[in-house]
Amino acid sequence: MPPDTILQVTKLVKDFNGIRAVNEISFTLATGTITAVIGPNGAGKTTLYNLISGQLSPTSGSIKLKGKEIAGLLPDKIVKAGIGRSFQITSVFPSLTVLQNIRTAVISRMGRQFDLWQGVEWDSPGDDSASSPLQRAVHEILALVGIEHLATNIVSTLSHGDQALVEMAIVLALEPHLILLDEPTAGMSREETRHMVELIRHVQRQTGCTFLITEHDMEVVFELAKKIIVMHQGVILSTGSHEEISNNISVRRAYLGTDD
Ligand SMILES: Nc1ncnc2c1ncn2[C@@H]1O[C@H](COP(=O)(O)OP(=O)(O)OP(=O)(O)O)[C@@H](O)[C@H]1O
Ligand SMILES: [Mg+2]
Repeated sequence: MPPDTILQVTKLVKDFNGIRAVNEISFTLATGTITAVIGPNGAGKTTLYNLISGQLSPTSGSIKLKGKEIAGLLPDKIVKAGIGRSFQITSVFPSLTVLQNIRTAVISRMGRQFDLWQGVEWDSPGDDSASSPLQRAVHEILALVGIEHLATNIVSTLSHGDQALVEMAIVLALEPHLILLDEPTAGMSREETRHMVELIRHVQRQTGCTFLITEHDMEVVFELAKKIIVMHQGVILSTGSHEEISNNISVRRAYLGTDD
C-alpha cells in the first residue's frame, strides 16, 4: 500500500438474502483527494458507504483505514478511527441551537480524552471569545463552515441547505481524516448546491481531509472529483478521470444502454 493511501478496500462483498449488493469491490483512496462514486439506482453506492461507516457488516472482504482493518467494527469505533459520515439526520438535535449541536459534537470528541461535562456552559452563545479549548474548537468550526451568523438559531427552523451546513459542521467537529458524503446536494436548490460544492472544496483545502462522495448530479461530480468510481449492479465498471470514464464502453452501456 503506497504511503499516501488512506483507505484500501479489497474484495468487499455484501449479500442481502441472496442479492449481492456489493460484489468483490476493490479500490484505494489517496490522502487529501476528493473521489466520487457514481452509478444508476441500486448500483450499491449506499451499501458501500454503510459498510465503510460500520452501519452494515460485510459478508467478506477487507477495509483498511491507514493500514488498520476496520471492516465489521461498530459505527462509533469507526468514527473514533477517523471516518466521518454526513447526511444521516440522527446526528443532529433539531430542537437545539446550532451552537449547542456543535458543542455537543466537540464535547463527544474531547470526552474521549477528558471529562469536560463539568463546567460546560450550555446556552451562552455570545459570551466567550476564545477562553477555553472547547469554545475555541466550536468557533473554529463555525468559522470553517461559515455559519457563525446561525449560531443561536434552532436547527429545525433552518432551511434545508443551512441544515446541511450544520450537519457538515457536526461531522467536522469529530475531526475525521476521511469524510463520506452520500448525495450531499440532494434536494437542494441550485444556489444551495453551488454553496455546498464550494464548501466541500474549501473544507478539503483547509483541513486536508479526504472525501468520498456519491452524487447523481454530474455537474457536481465533475467539478469536485478528479477520480470517479463507476458502480453498476454491485461491481466497479470503471475508475478514472471524467474523460476516462466517459470513454468507457461499459459505462455507456450501463447509463445509456448504448455504445455510442
Ligand atoms: N437492507 C437491505 N436489505 C435488502 N436489500 C438491500 C438492502 N439495502 C440495499 N439493498 C439492495 O441492494 C442493492 C443496492 O442498493 P443501494 O441502496 O446500495 O444502491 P444505491 O447505489 O445507493 O442506489 P440509489 O442511487 O438509488 O441511492 C439494491 O438492489 C437494493 O435493493
Ligand atoms: Mg443510495
